[in-house]
Amino acid sequence: MTTCLSPELLSLYNLEESVVVAIDVLRATSTIASALYHGANAVIPVSTVEECIEKGQKPETITAGERNGITASGLQYGNSPLLYQDGLAKNKTLILTTTNGTALIHKSLQAKQILTGSFPNISTLCEYLKGQSTPIILACAGWKGQVNLEDTLFAGAVATRLDQHFDTQNDTTLLAQALYNQYQHDLPSLIRQSSHYKRLGRLGIYNDIQYCMSFDTAPVLPFLYEGQLVNKKF
Ligand code: MLT
Repeated sequence: MTTCLSPELLSLYNLEESVVVAIDVLRATSTIASALYHGANAVIPVSTVEECIEKGQKPETITAGERNGITASGLQYGNSPLLYQDGLAKNKTLILTTTNGTALIHKSLQAKQILTGSFPNISTLCEYLKGQSTPIILACAGWKGQVNLEDTLFAGAVATRLDQHFDTQNDTTLLAQALYNQYQHDLPSLIRQSSHYKRLGRLGIYNDIQYCMSFDTAPVLPFLYEGQLVNKKF
């Protein structure tokens, strides 16, 4: 099990022979888990706002997403995971585009499998990964190519839970685990230091962050199948 701290480093990893876990804690992969848990048929991650709008022309779809944390012009909704708790996406397909998270998924398409991870679906994700014999890459979305705290923290949480099942003895995973082990008893104290927490805070978006840091509030396994993220039963 290895950790890729930024999408800019993906070319250094053997995606073709790996299971990639796409991680974007604030907020894309938390949103994906929430939408699927609350009844969305699928989430289609797209790279551009234009493609999101185009795919959103189809019936029974919802368009959502952000750029720099702000609802992208032309989309119905932003990127809050809280949007879906009252059934907004039930039996619909969510077309989602975000600054980093959906781009990361598209940069990982050569992978054997692509899953998404967030604190709301951490236990379901780890239960599935335990059964995998294929190498795992914990792929952090970061922010515009830069490493961020929250995605690295999540990778450390997953690696710590699975270190009896996988060889986690590589520098980036050890780094992520060290971060998690230092802050695991007070995650908010670390998250409050993250650049995206501050960016979202300036936008008044605090409730989303609380949800994104909640464990197992959306126990699903988002699995990319034919370009759509669906809740894989296993
Ligand atoms: C991202 O793509 O980095 C996040 O989804 C950004 C956000 O939701 O604010």
